[in-house]
Amino acid sequence: MNFTTVAWDDENNTVRMLDQTQLPNAVVYEQFDDYREVAVAIKELKVRGAPAIGVSAALGVVVGIQDSLASDYGSFKSELDTVIDVLADTRPTAVNLFWALERMRRTAETNRESAVGDLKKILHREAIDILNEDRDMCRRIGLHGATLIGDGHTVLTHCNAGALATAGAGTALSVIYEASRQYSDISVFADETRPILQGARLTAWELQEAGVDVTLICDNMAAQVMKEGRIDSIVVGADRIASNGDVANKIGTYGVAVLAQAHSIPFYVAAPFSTIDMDMPDGSGIPIEERASEEITEGLGKRTAPEGVRVYNPAFDVTPANIVTAIITERGIARTPYTDTILALSLMK
Ligand code: MRU
Repeated sequence: MNFTTVAWDDENNTVRMLDQTQLPNAVVYEQFDDYREVAVAIKELKVRGAPAIGVSAALGVVVGIQDSLASDYGSFKSELDTVIDVLADTRPTAVNLFWALERMRRTAETNRESAVGDLKKILHREAIDILNEDRDMCRRIGLHGATLIGDGHTVLTHCNAGALATAGAGTALSVIYEASRQYSDISVFADETRPILQGARLTAWELQEAGVDVTLICDNMAAQVMKEGRIDSIVVGADRIASNGDVANKIGTYGVAVLAQAHSIPFYVAAPFSTIDMDMPDGSGIPIEERASEEITEGLGKRTAPEGVRVYNPAFDVTPANIVTAIITERGIARTPYTDTILALSLMK
């Protein structure tokens, strides 16, 4: 990739992010040396996508504690808790955020006997490990997922589950990148993904940058495109997967899955194992973020709905496990019955 979604800047001791709100019109990087700014960047979608949010939060913890003057674990821990709470209070749906923050909290706890200076270094290393593991996880998801794609296939995707959503090559798009490496003729249809167009602004941009054949459609064209026989499979990402295989992902995913079933097209979900919430028995308990009404009432630089109209803007939906053909993780591919196959993957390392 010739861009970096999120990284640690060793020279300046800052988190460096590509500001995705400015894509595809400008490639602008921002440096963050304040964890509160990292939290705002997550909230405002400068960085987005479940794995990238987790990595950013872990790096946000590092900037949050690096100047701590605490001299004992008790006071360091209370500063750490404040930083973690602020970063956690940003986006409720993607479980990777809480997974990464919990891992940072546990690392501190495990090393509570260390001097505060050493603890800072240990937490820094842990955040870098989370970032590097994310890269490797993307690569392995790509390898597993590519076995489900054949030469000459056209894949439809929704939202952006690509390099812009992770520290590596993505989840759903990693499958496409790997298939494109193995075969000569892979193409993609990208849903634009209303209301804020991650498919148009981000997926179309990153696939073009990577030289992958991509065609952009409005969300409401997916049914027709499937009926015309143009789509061989669908691959999307996930923000949280319940232990029974129900999948929360960007709003509109559920509709795509229903359409896939109606047209007998396989519907695949690609996600790291950290996206599976083993404490969530089914999708009904997954918190769904609701975002500002302006995302729907304003577009193209102007108001597109009457003042005062009531708006409902859930950012995610839940696709029931029974219409998910397979879940591709870095540990392998799970198929129905998901309660058993996910449990089996959870026991692997
Ligand atoms: O609101 P966003 O842009 O953070 O939503 C992103 C998605 O829904 C992605 O599909 C999901 O996080 C998977 S990213 C690998």
